[in-house]
Amino acid sequence: MLARTALRAIPRRAFSTSAPRQTKVAVLGAGGGIGQPLSLLLKMDPLVSSLSLYDIRGAPGVAADISHVDVAGEVNGYPADKLEDALKGVEVVVIPAGVPRKPGMTRDDLFNTNASIVRDLAAAVSKTAPKAHILVISNPVNSTVPIVASVLEKAGTFDPARLFGVTTLDVVRASRFLSSLAGTDPKDTHVTVVGGHSGVTIVPLLSQTPQAKSVIANKETYEKLVNRIQYGGDEVVKAKDGAGSATLSMAFAAAKFTNSLLRALKGEKGIVVPSFVKSPLFEKEGVEFFSSNIELGPNGVAKIHGLGELSAEEQELVKAALPELQKNIEKGVKFAA
Ligand code: NAI
Repeated sequence: MLARTALRAIPRRAFSTSAPRQTKVAVLGAGGGIGQPLSLLLKMDPLVSSLSLYDIRGAPGVAADISHVDVAGEVNGYPADKLEDALKGVEVVVIPAGVPRKPGMTRDDLFNTNASIVRDLAAAVSKTAPKAHILVISNPVNSTVPIVASVLEKAGTFDPARLFGVTTLDVVRASRFLSSLAGTDPKDTHVTVVGGHSGVTIVPLLSQTPQAKSVIANKETYEKLVNRIQYGGDEVVKAKDGAGSATLSMAFAAAKFTNSLLRALKGEKGIVVPSFVKSPLFEKEGVEFFSSNIELGPNGVAKIHGLGELSAEEQELVKAALPELQKNIEKGVKFAA
């Protein structure tokens, strides 16, 4: 009896909430490696009252399975030809649809397959749930977010406050990797990660994390840590040996970001998290989308924070990120045009 009570308490503690609010959330790509655990975690989130699971393969099965979990909230699964039904009345759409990397691939190598998947899903969201908040996980995020923006722009439904590239996994990794070096608890070790979501575009601002002080003091350790944060995804791709990329930690990260947004949508104040959004920060440099700390509010993005004070090393990292970001963004925009 005690074990059952304890078990119940675990997942719910992962999400903080006060008064429940009814929110319908859709997962597009729910049958996949990320989609399945993400759907389960969203089912555990008390702020999600209804879950719409869609995939071109297997979503009804995943939905039937998850719907037996004994927490409140309904779950419905939709097959390939029922995308519009899946999106009816949805306020938040999370998109992990598309192929993942295999060893030796960069995220950009996924462009040819995933660009059209994301474009078509964005068009469907624009038509059926034009006011929905869209959270893009599908890689390459640096290009797929601009693709979604372009599709919505053309349809006249683009609201920059409601489109997010999910970069939370980089934040989660930075906290975890730094904590293991500094001997701290990741729960209190927050690292702001800015830029984009691939290689050199991932820029951890470790100088702003008090617990990183001793780690930063050693140049070699600092450089190794930055590299590990930038290429942490490769560790998983290599270890999975052809079976895909991060799915479980990604599902955790996406559920965390979704919960932050849901809390802000229901009026909680002071929620600030990094996300890849349409941003004025480096517009002059020709970079229209950028990840930085975002204050979330009842309508999505409430405020885009600047980068704050940067160390000389971080200034160099940002400089190195910009041309790559610009290239990735342009590629997405061109494709959508
Ligand atoms: P997966 O192959 O296990 O699952 C993808 C799912 O998408 C499959 O079930 C597939 O049937 C579905 N799908 C394909 N086309 C679709 C369409 N048109 N509509 C609906 N569903 C469709 O791949 P996994 O591991 O779940 O990764 C998904 C994506 O997430 C990849 O692009 C991967 O690179 C990306 N990713 C992003 C991360 C981030 O930090 N933003 C981290 C890790 C992965």
